[in-house]
Order: sequence, then structure tokens, then C-alpha cells
Amino acid sequence: MTQGRVQNKVALITGAAQGIGKETAIVLAREGATVIVSDINDSLGATVAKEIGGHCVYLHLDVSSEDDWKHAISTITERFGKLNILVNNAGVTGFQEGFGPQDPENASLDSWRKVNAVNSDGTFLGCKYAIQAMKSSGAGSIINISSRSGLVGIPGASAYAASKAAVRNHTKTVALYCCQQGYPIRCNSVHPAAILTPMWEPMLGAGPDREIRMAEIAKDIPMQKMGTAEDVANAVLFLASDESKYITGIELTVDGGILAGASATPKRQDIHE
Ligand SMILES: NC(=O)c1ccc[n+]([C@@H]2O[C@H](COP(=O)([O-])OP(=O)(O)OC[C@H]3O[C@@H](n4cnc5c(N)ncnc54)[C@H](O)[C@@H]3O)[C@@H](O)[C@H]2O)c1
Repeated sequence: MTQGRVQNKVALITGAAQGIGKETAIVLAREGATVIVSDINDSLGATVAKEIGGHCVYLHLDVSSEDDWKHAISTITERFGKLNILVNNAGVTGFQEGFGPQDPENASLDSWRKVNAVNSDGTFLGCKYAIQAMKSSGAGSIINISSRSGLVGIPGASAYAASKAAVRNHTKTVALYCCQQGYPIRCNSVHPAAILTPMWEPMLGAGPDREIRMAEIAKDIPMQKMGTAEDVANAVLFLASDESKYITGIELTVDGGILAGASATPKRQDIHE
């Protein structure tokens, strides 16, 4: 059901060819925004924009490239006259990309830099160029997709976790900076965990063990199930809309309760006094 919650707003979403970014594009377009789908996967991204239809367009944008950001923002402001919503969603773990081991002892400096170039540098560049475009656009909302991994350590994914922590912290800096400058721009982070998207494929694999692995993951989630891309898209929609107009600098978790603590309560005999 459409309620026009982001009617007349222009929204740019990075990494929107699949997964959370794609679903966010669908939800924001459904709620009335003019959506710019961007990615490095041009064929898939263009297909998503076509499926959404209406005013939706596809734009190539490698978030780690400053030239791409300059080109994307100037194209959007020339074509649509403003930018109101930026979802810095593009992200890599280093696993799908085959960057080698990601633990803090064996990860290479090169792989550390490559993961940070997308997740951390990409978010920095997005905020930088969006601020410049949004301050003359009436109102702006930047939503940075961090992760549960930005709030806790992850032994097997050190660069990913550090980059997502950088995203979380930079969000608060941007939020305060915009308030300080009197810019009508809010900036918040979203922290998903265990959302079933193509990002999980290398961990889940195919074949008969897939269901077993999914059950293993679900066991450690208080809600006992993985989330969907739509669960994250709905949180983004709230932060993108004027319903959240007094909210800036927050971190919104979408994780089935994982970060609330452990779902298992220690039994009396487990406590050593
Ligand atoms: N799925 C989860 O459980 C989960 C959990 C926590 C955080 N996240 C975060 O949510 C975001 C989306 O994750 P997802 O699960 O949909 O991932 P995904 O792998 O399904 O999609 C990521 C998209 O980003 C694009 N991309 C990669 N490098 C890019 C670059 N340099 N420039 C532009 N686009 C690029 C890919 O082509 C792809 O379309 C990521 O930032 C991820 O870290 C996901």
C-alpha cells in the first residue's frame, strides 16, 4: 500500500543492484521518491531501475571513486534539481571478492585497504558530496548502512568490522557538523545483521547443507530467524521520511535482537560467586 511517505524527494541509493539496496530502491520508489539506482554492476542495476519504472534511473557509481561521486551528484542535480536522500549502502566483506583471509593476523594490507576503500572511503565520499548538494535542496537525510559488525569485534572479518565502525562514527560527526552549520541535513546509521541477501551466499553455500547452516545461524538469533532486505528497507524509509525529522546521529539496529544481548539466561548453577 502506498502512502507517499517520501513523496517529491529525490533519492540516491548506492549498491542497489541487489540485496538491501535493491529493496530500498523499490520501497522508496513505492513511497513516492524519484529514485536513482546506482552500482558497479551495470547490467543488474539497469534491470532493477527498469523493473521499478516511473522516474527511476540507473547511474554507474563506484563508491570508492571520487570522480564517480562528482559525476553522479552533478548529473542528479542537473537532471532532477536537488538531492534529498542518500543511502550509502554499497558494501563488501572481502569474502565474495576473494580478498583472502580477513582475520587480524593473516589479512593482507592490500585486502584491508580494498574493503575500507568501499565501505569507509565510499561512505566518507558519499557524505561529503551529498552535504554539498543537500544544503541547497531544502532538506536532506543521509542514511549510512553500517552493520552489527560496526558495534562488536568480528575475529574473521577484521577490515569489514573496522570499516563499519568507521561508518558508525562518521555518521555522528556528519550529523553534528550539519547541525553546527545550520544545514537542514540529518545523518543516521542503520545496523543490520543476519539479513538474507546475496552477501550471505559464500557463507551458506548450495547443496544439502544449506538448510543446516541457515538453522545454525537462526539458533543464535533471539528471534530465531534471519531478516529480509525489506526489514532493512523499512527502517531506511523511516529515517528518509519526515517522520524522523527530529532524529539525527542515531544508530538503528535491524538484527532480530542480536545486539540486545544474549537470549540465553544463565542458570543459577552457572554463576560462580
Ligand atoms: N546482509 C546482511 O546480513 C548485512 C548485515 C550487515 C550489514 N549489511 C550491509 O548492508 C549493505 C548491503 O548488503 P547486502 O547484503 O545487500 O549486500 P550484497 O552483496 O547483496 O549487495 C551489495 C551491492 O553493492 C555493490 N557494490 C560492491 N562494491 C561496490 C562499489 N565499489 N561501488 C558501488 N557498488 C558496489 C554490489 O555490486 C552489490 O550490488 C552492505 O553495506 C552490507 O555491509 C548487510
